[in-house]
Amino acid sequence: MATVERQSLSAQSQRLLNQVLQRPLPRHIAIVMDGNGRWAKQLDRDRTFGHRQGVDTARDIVEFSIKHLKLETLTLYAFSTENWNRPRREVDFLMDLMQRFLREQVDRLVKKNVQLRVMGDVGALPESLQNEIQYAIDRSNSNDGLNLNLAVNYGSRQEILRAVQSLVIQVQDGKLEPESINEHLFEQALYTQGLPDPDLVIRTAEQRLSNFLLWQAAYAEFWTTPSPWPEFSIEKFLTAISDFQSRPRTYGSLNNHA
Ligand code: IPE
Ligand code: IPE
Ligand code: MG
Repeated sequence: MATVERQSLSAQSQRLLNQVLQRPLPRHIAIVMDGNGRWAKQLDRDRTFGHRQGVDTARDIVEFSIKHLKLETLTLYAFSTENWNRPRREVDFLMDLMQRFLREQVDRLVKKNVQLRVMGDVGALPESLQNEIQYAIDRSNSNDGLNLNLAVNYGSRQEILRAVQSLVIQVQDGKLEPESINEHLFEQALYTQGLPDPDLVIRTAEQRLSNFLLWQAAYAEFWTTPSPWPEFSIEKFLTAISDFQSRPRTYGSLNNHA
């Protein structure tokens, strides 16, 4: 639709893009897309208007990540295990919106060589959404471009418990020695199995993780903006990446320090 025109970059974005492409890019960017409801309320609109607008922003960021950054992995937090606590009407709307997003975008994403993944307790989602997810995964599973990882009914604590349970079962079955459980093996039991850890976690509207990638983000750089997600832009995205590139990552050592 309007996506192509939306991708023409402002002079400032073009300048930032040229700059960030000269340095190593993060392999994995993960985003907590927050503030949709408040953005809509401030315009005197229903919260659902904010969610719809949020989908457009997400689509722009995905498009840009493919076309200009050739990013390896992008994770988007779409619905948390805690979001069930919202009014039924909003939850239903969000389920429907995710389903529509997949249905409308899957062909384009597949053509752009995107591999779609979904992390979270998919079995608890409405069946029609589960079917759409499965279809999108099947359609894109031979692609090897951007890993687009959607966190849907995702909670990091639930993910970690699930990993523990699967390892305990392997121990009980005599297939695994407790001593051989190490970080690598544990990571194989997480939804993010096979993906690099996020290098950069971006959050709009707030400054907390809200049960997102607690294990995987151990050494991620964190970038926040008070702007709500519908106001997030290519320029802000590039600013986050540029800030990321200017931070020395020492992983507990003294490397890079004067
Ligand atoms: C983020 O926006 C989208 C989801 C969590 C699904 P919110 O819906 O949390 O919007 P605010 O934070 O209430 O403004
Ligand atoms: C985090 O946003 C979850 C998603 C963006 C899907 P929330 O709005 O649910 O988180 P809190 O309530 O601000 O912690
Ligand atoms: Mg919120």
